[in-house]
Amino acid sequence: MTALYGVIGDPIAHSLSPLIHNGWIRDHGLDAEYLAMQVQAGALSSALDTLKSRNCRGLNITLPHKEDAFRLCTTVSDRARSIGAVNTLSFDSDGAWRGDNTDAPGFRHAVVMAFEGSGFRPFASDRPQRAVLIGAGGASRAVAYVFGRERQNAVFCNRTLRRARSLVDVYAPEAGADVLVADLSDLPHHLESCTYVVNATSLGHSGKSVDWPEGRGRLVYDLSYGKAAEAFLEPARLAGWRTVDGLLMLVAQAAVSFEVWFGIRPDMDAGYARAKRTLEGVT
Ligand code: ATR
Repeated sequence: MTALYGVIGDPIAHSLSPLIHNGWIRDHGLDAEYLAMQVQAGALSSALDTLKSRNCRGLNITLPHKEDAFRLCTTVSDRARSIGAVNTLSFDSDGAWRGDNTDAPGFRHAVVMAFEGSGFRPFASDRPQRAVLIGAGGASRAVAYVFGRERQNAVFCNRTLRRARSLVDVYAPEAGADVLVADLSDLPHHLESCTYVVNATSLGHSGKSVDWPEGRGRLVYDLSYGKAAEAFLEPARLAGWRTVDGLLMLVAQAAVSFEVWFGIRPDMDAGYARAKRTLEGVT
């Protein structure tokens, strides 16, 4: 019986995950299929019960279900517990759902790749550097977790200061690293002096960005991709920042999920190329 995998969210129609995973499933000749499943807020528990009886072996979980998924798992990985959100479920042979968060390693990989060839190493402890994280919603928690584990000096900057403060618990600063919390109105000051910037707000989704000082070739990394990322990043590019969108992070988190389920490390370049072609409307 073909094993079922998929992504659960709402909305979900435009998810690139089926394309990415089914490509890898084909590459490896696996007897499995990966579907996008629309499930409304509050209906995750019953959806999981139904899927369990249909030979579902693994799921990705996206908005608005990541926190619910965390609560519904029988066991969760340490990093999912620290982040407080689950984006990958595996159905164990003992009949239990196991939760993990692959956004964190996906983000780490994508940022390291974004700097490749630049002569600059993110997370290097031998040089003082500070990253600014804009936004304090669900997506930013995986970033704060990686920053903490990598001893990345950071500023957590958000419109709602209380939410920015909550990231400090996820960051759990290690010895030697230092973290500031700031209101969005102080962003211009922090952008002047930071080493690089990560955007985890949804500003780009409404066609907005922030005011950018001179970039001097510094990096802005946006967790979103496609039109939303373009809207946020274009003004930054015009001000002299180097910009990278979140498509590789999407592929990298998918690759970690794929490895959790199948024990196979898939070809990330192939997954990225397929996702990029689709995003650009080229078949
Ligand atoms: P996600 O789970 O995708 O991170 P979210 O929890 O809705 O989504 O978070 C969206 C982020 O974008 C938040 O940091 C939000 O700021 P608040 O915490 O103050 O709500 C930020 N955001 C959204 N619209 C914004 C706007 N117009 N100006 C500034 N920040 C905005």
